[in-house]
Amino acid sequence: MSADNVYKHFYRTMRLAATELSDGGGPFGFDITTALEFDFLVERYQCDAIIETGSNMGDTTDYLARTYPHLQIITCDVVDKYVDIVKRRVGFMPHTHVEKIDSPDLIAKFKDEFRCPLYYLDAHWYEDWPLERELGLIENGVVCVDDFNIGHPRFGFDKYGEVECGPRMLSRFIDKVPHFYTNNPDAQHELPCLQTGRRGGKAYFAINQFDHMKHHRYFRRFETPRPA
Ligand SMILES: C[S@@+](CC[C@H](N)C(=O)[O-])C[C@H]1O[C@@H](n2cnc3c(N)ncnc32)[C@H](O)[C@@H]1O
Repeated sequence: MSADNVYKHFYRTMRLAATELSDGGGPFGFDITTALEFDFLVERYQCDAIIETGSNMGDTTDYLARTYPHLQIITCDVVDKYVDIVKRRVGFMPHTHVEKIDSPDLIAKFKDEFRCPLYYLDAHWYEDWPLERELGLIENGVVCVDDFNIGHPRFGFDKYGEVECGPRMLSRFIDKVPHFYTNNPDAQHELPCLQTGRRGGKAYFAINQFDHMKHHRYFRRFETPRPA
């Protein structure tokens, strides 16, 4: 894998979610730096699957499926319309699996199937925020939580009632996530981000895997806050 490969597939992906998402859609919200971070993780951890929760129109699913034909690409949504579109979009590629299912149930179904899955946790919007249930189930692999508060004004994050998608939310999982990384907003990536609209912060961590993010410029390390 390489930045050239990321570039080639990233800018060939249709932004079908343009009217659905506040960032205008595109793979990883049209932020190619996230695609480069995923490429590093796939390569370094020799991941054998990418499990996305919340496919929406499948902009990221389609990008991942074409960029990584040697990996299992698994995704879900709870909305019929999205699941139908994503099945039509990527279903012809035999290494993909698209399902209408609540995201924690998808994780429960596939979490023991792979040596090192890379999770892209991006299921949200409705009253029930599945993120904590998702994290409670993951026992192995590399995790990216989207829309995480990285403490930088350029990067947005989620908030559900009083609960922010940020470091405090990880306290409950301190035993398996004693430290985490965020995307590093000051890092020089090989390719520039052309998203002029909203960008979402990312948290990354490895569970029961070696820590390969420690010395890479893409990532910034933080200790998980102790529970209050
Ligand atoms: C921000 S969009 C995902 C965008 C997509 N990952 C991408 O990169 O293009 C969030 C999606 O999560 C879905 N969603 C919300 N709750 C869910 C749940 N419990 N299980 C699965 N999907 C869910 C929503 O229907 C919505 O399409």
